[in-house]
Amino acid sequence: MSIQPGDAALFANAERILRDNDRGAYTIPTRGLYPFQWNWDSCLTALGQRHFDETRAWTEIETLLAHQWPDGMVPHIVFHAPDEGYFPGPSVWATGGSTPTSGITQPPVLGFVLRRLYAEARDKALARERATALVPKTDAWHRWFYANRDPAGTGLVAILHPWESGRDNSIDWDEALARVPTEGVEPYHRRDTRHVDAAERPTEAEYDRYLWLVQQFRRLGWDNAELHDASPFQVVDPGFNAILLRSDEALVELADALGFAGIAEDARCRVAQARAAFAGLWSEAAGQFLCYDRVAGRLIDSHSVGGLLPLLAGIGDTGRLAATVRRWRQQVAFGVPSHDPADPRFEPKRYWRGPCWLVVNFMLSDGLKRNGEPAAAAEIVADSLRLIRRHGFAEYYDPTDGTALGGRHFTWTAAMAMELLAGGREA
Ligand code: DGY
Repeated sequence: MSIQPGDAALFANAERILRDNDRGAYTIPTRGLYPFQWNWDSCLTALGQRHFDETRAWTEIETLLAHQWPDGMVPHIVFHAPDEGYFPGPSVWATGGSTPTSGITQPPVLGFVLRRLYAEARDKALARERATALVPKTDAWHRWFYANRDPAGTGLVAILHPWESGRDNSIDWDEALARVPTEGVEPYHRRDTRHVDAAERPTEAEYDRYLWLVQQFRRLGWDNAELHDASPFQVVDPGFNAILLRSDEALVELADALGFAGIAEDARCRVAQARAAFAGLWSEAAGQFLCYDRVAGRLIDSHSVGGLLPLLAGIGDTGRLAATVRRWRQQVAFGVPSHDPADPRFEPKRYWRGPCWLVVNFMLSDGLKRNGEPAAAAEIVADSLRLIRRHGFAEYYDPTDGTALGGRHFTWTAAMAMELLAGGREA
């Protein structure tokens, strides 16, 4: 990575964004568009916070886990304080509980974030104390996934809502989402398009289906034992599963280090089963992994970055995956697009149908570096820093020209910039 003269200022700007969006014990992604605590945003935010305040970084995670459900699920949004600027708010989810939360989850980056916080801590005693309390909670969430989202014991978990993937409107979901009905969707008013150009966000047709699924799960009383089989949308996302696997490997290390032998042993078994199951998602023709539609019983022919994210956990042929990343990058000005630019469905400005996301770049570059492809990793880091230097800390970017898109003054982009600038550290 090339460190440039302005990088100290860039680092300071990133810190300012994290501080501006700090609400005391949790951080919002950005003002207006996302005024609450989001699960994977928050965990990745802690990676940024640790560079200037380790105690605050641990608190970020502890606040999220204070809202873990009794069954182990960690919800995707915690609605700490009322805010009419976001839809769907707590009354739509109606999950109960003193601090309202959503009723679905998000990519479990928690485990590998915790391991990095712990392994690279400056204050070792603090890290030991904080991590010791968090390991059993992380384990409970991971067990929840396999019990509730893999009831047949395949080794891979399904998401039941596109919002769970974190890649809300990816082309990956088009086919499965088309199966979700829209009859009976209660009238609603989106708020996201008051903050951001509608051309950069999911469509109305997608929102109708997002809402139908929420209503369906609410009708079932958010009973996670029921949701999987009752959902017309059950998709096995290789990206999501790779994140879970990598976090489970991190959990093994943490549990071993902190004296949780039983937790370590169970996590080892899950990892072994998941690793073996990934073979069924590989596409030789595409040179990447594909999503599997569990309801239709087939792989989904959509080449998104979800199918490259197994790099994060060193799953599959790293060389082949790195070649696919390079092929995509060569077609655009900035990598890594969230979808294959050669696909006619690629949309460079619409959220997860083409734009670049710094969190994805961080995970891809980390995986490439750890798995023998340092040059490919360095290219992604260079693209990421070029985007930020030229176009600021946006939510996402147009890969064809770098245009800043979505929310601005964006927390996780700032946190990732700090990680990439601090560089050289091994997760
Ligand atoms: C949104 O509202 O756009 C979020 O991505 C859902 O969590």
